[in-house]
Amino acid sequence: MEYILSPSILAADFGKLAEQIKITEENGAKYLHLDVMDGAFVPSISFGMPVIKSLRKYSGQVFDVHLMIESPERYLEDFKAAGADIITVHAEATKHLHRTVTRIKELGLKAGVSLNPATPLSAIELVLSEVDMVLIMSVNPGFGGQKFIPFTLDKIRKLREMSPDIDIEVDGGVNKDNVAELVKAGANVLVAGTAVFGGDIAENTKLMIERMHEE
Ligand code: DX5
Ligand code: ZN
Repeated sequence: MEYILSPSILAADFGKLAEQIKITEENGAKYLHLDVMDGAFVPSISFGMPVIKSLRKYSGQVFDVHLMIESPERYLEDFKAAGADIITVHAEATKHLHRTVTRIKELGLKAGVSLNPATPLSAIELVLSEVDMVLIMSVNPGFGGQKFIPFTLDKIRKLREMSPDIDIEVDGGVNKDNVAELVKAGANVLVAGTAVFGGDIAENTKLMIERMHEE
């Protein structure tokens, strides 16, 4: 199993995005997590296709696009054109999850499905064999810098039992102090916003990756 850090630019300085993501890439972060919010599925609004398209020129990382938007199936082609490599949709946000996942795969991209903390694993059980990655939200989506919700650890464990090979990504409140237990529970892709961009980005990136591999 490959262990990957996916820094979330939500916590970066938006005036220095290209410069800051370069630091994460140079220090070993293979993915870049891009949080798209629409002010409807989640309370806040972040950024969309134009920002992702601009950043594509400055990074060779895998673009891990997390769509926190209603009816994400409307924009799959657009996010592909902007440079997405992985598109993750919320099971709660799309009426026909199987169709949406199938469409992402048809576009030649990796498909991820995300679950809010209160949504049980049963919501994705039947599409699990079709998806490349499951994103377990460990905070209620919408903002960076929130506190990790501990009961989500059990969800990660159960999902790992259900599927030994799938990529399990965890998002929200991930930091250097909980990396070890997340990896132990079965997560292999960790998203970190504040824990990477708050302070020394190079040091933070290196430390998070080091801790992921210690387990
Ligand atoms: C939350 C977003 C996260 C967020 C994580 O809705 O999906 O990706 O940026 O931020 P931290 O790591 O600061 O909790
Ligand atoms: Zn996210």
